Amino acid sequence: MNASLQSNALFLNMSGNLPPKVPHVFNDAYRGAVGGVLADFEPNDLIGAHQFRGSERDRCAGARFVARRLSEMPAPDRIVVANGTQSILLMLLASLVGRGRRLALESLSYPTLRSFADHLGFDLSPVPMDEEGALPDAFEAICRADRPAAYYAMPTLQNPTTGIMSVVRRQAIAEICRRYGIAIIEDDIYSLLPRDMPLPLSTFAPELSWYILGTAKSLAAALKVAYVVAPTAAAAAERFWPGVRATYWMCAPMNGSVVSKLIEIGHADRIIEAVRAETRARQAIVAERLAGADLRTRPDCLHVWLSLPDSRPASDFVSELRALGVEVSTSSTYAMGDTRPPNAIRFGMGTPRDRADFERGLNTITKVYFK
Ligand SMILES: Cc1ncc(COP(=O)(O)O)c(C=O)c1O
Repeated sequence: MNASLQSNALFLNMSGNLPPKVPHVFNDAYRGAVGGVLADFEPNDLIGAHQFRGSERDRCAGARFVARRLSEMPAPDRIVVANGTQSILLMLLASLVGRGRRLALESLSYPTLRSFADHLGFDLSPVPMDEEGALPDAFEAICRADRPAAYYAMPTLQNPTTGIMSVVRRQAIAEICRRYGIAIIEDDIYSLLPRDMPLPLSTFAPELSWYILGTAKSLAAALKVAYVVAPTAAAAAERFWPGVRATYWMCAPMNGSVVSKLIEIGHADRIIEAVRAETRARQAIVAERLAGADLRTRPDCLHVWLSLPDSRPASDFVSELRALGVEVSTSSTYAMGDTRPPNAIRFGMGTPRDRADFERGLNTITKVYFK
């Protein structure tokens, strides 16, 4: 993106899908949690030593947080507290996949995975998708041909397509992973705003699964805390012990403790509720303005996947929007390997500072789409 456009105060970057800010709830909750942590701990005790998997208290809070999605609360010994999802993905991909091996993932997926593949020297095996996500038959064919070491899964409100895998599809994918001995790395980051999502893929093959629930899409984008559930306590200890100082995946103790506090006193619930309400309010405007458009989203989803007619190539559409001061992303951003991206764009709910700015950006998108 052009730097001068970005620095223009009226320019709206709607390409990201951050959760909307909810200062009326977040600010006091966060201030209270920081004060609570400083009252609970002597600062030097809290910060005086590394916590490789997180403190016992932070892992207990993490177990409580992930229990929002799992059928039962995992033992705290299976939890690893990390400084965000990206950080833990880098660690897991380095150790579960690694140089010269392969990662299977949906053909449209989180672009960071492409950078990690380049960085760590592994190859990608993109799996064809339908509206739910990875197709089981195609996945099995890739498992047979490519023998991937792991599968990166995002079965709940997929980025970018917003796909949600049915339980039957989750069972089928888990069964294939079992048959071919493929580790599952599940990124469930978009799952906390909706209330009615199927159980994570990991619950169908827990012995193979590294389940990651980050806070960046439900509490605040830069909180930098994610919880991982390892297949077993032994697996967590083996991969996240002091000897594997390959990267710094640990979150700073103050940060981890503040998020623990938010969870313990129920303020994480209040923030998620407020983010959900603001997301739904913005999505209601999308449903009204873009009625009749070929789009995929849900009332509690942080992004919209908007398909374009063949006569309007996504790159031209994005340039037109940019000239009018609005940035969105094209489908090519998410295409893995040699996947040919469909003609579509993605825009997010949360980057504009308030609802009025969001509406301004959306009006521009609507004007260009319906012209
Ligand atoms: C699928 C997915 N996982 C993880 C992240 C980022 O998580 P974190 O900020 O915790 O690294 C994003 C952000 O866009 C994402 O889309």
